[in-house]
Amino acid sequence: MKFFIDTANVDEIKQAASIGVLDGVTTNPTLVARENRKFEDLIKEICGIVDGPISAEVISLEYDGMVKEAKKLAQIHKNITIKLPMTLEGLKACRTLTDADIMTNMTLVFSPSQALLAAKAGATFVSPFVGRLDDISTSGMDLIDQIVTIYENYGYTSEVLVASVRHPLHVVEAAMMGADVVTMPFKVIEKLVKHPLTDKGIDSFLKDWKKVKDLK
Ligand code: G3P
Repeated sequence: MKFFIDTANVDEIKQAASIGVLDGVTTNPTLVARENRKFEDLIKEICGIVDGPISAEVISLEYDGMVKEAKKLAQIHKNITIKLPMTLEGLKACRTLTDADIMTNMTLVFSPSQALLAAKAGATFVSPFVGRLDDISTSGMDLIDQIVTIYENYGYTSEVLVASVRHPLHVVEAAMMGADVVTMPFKVIEKLVKHPLTDKGIDSFLKDWKKVKDLK
């Protein structure tokens, strides 16, 4: 299973990369806007930190504009993955970019039919947003289960990239279902590590070790 970080914050990306479990980065216009920096410069810097797919999203809603933006972004680095909205125009752009050997990530996916279309358009990654479905009382993880089954049924090579992840259980359930990638905020990576019994165990080991050290 691949772990991506869902942020455009360079400090968080560096911290996550230093742990040694990071396989890529996803950004979106909202995350980029928080950084108050020129988009291309920011993406270029991120590509220098993580050697894996780096998702950068297009803003155009029409095919021509999407492809133009994508080709410009793809020149920044070989790892740039073009994030495209899940629309008919986005699907068309996905097919064109896939045929031009540019990695793609179909984003804002909320249904199995959208995911099926994204796979048929040759998307490298398909991003179902689980947290936003949970927010409207619909199970995000049920969608992941459906997509994984559909892709397995037909041998589609698009990778299921679980996005809009809010807590560790999303990550664990995605792993149980066989999703290829999970992208998560830094705070979720931190939460994955934590267990009170680990902290308690370290504490008691250190206390006991002190007794050994104190022996003359
Ligand atoms: O990058 C897309 C996605 O992960 C956004 O998450 O928390 O804004 O729904 P969220």
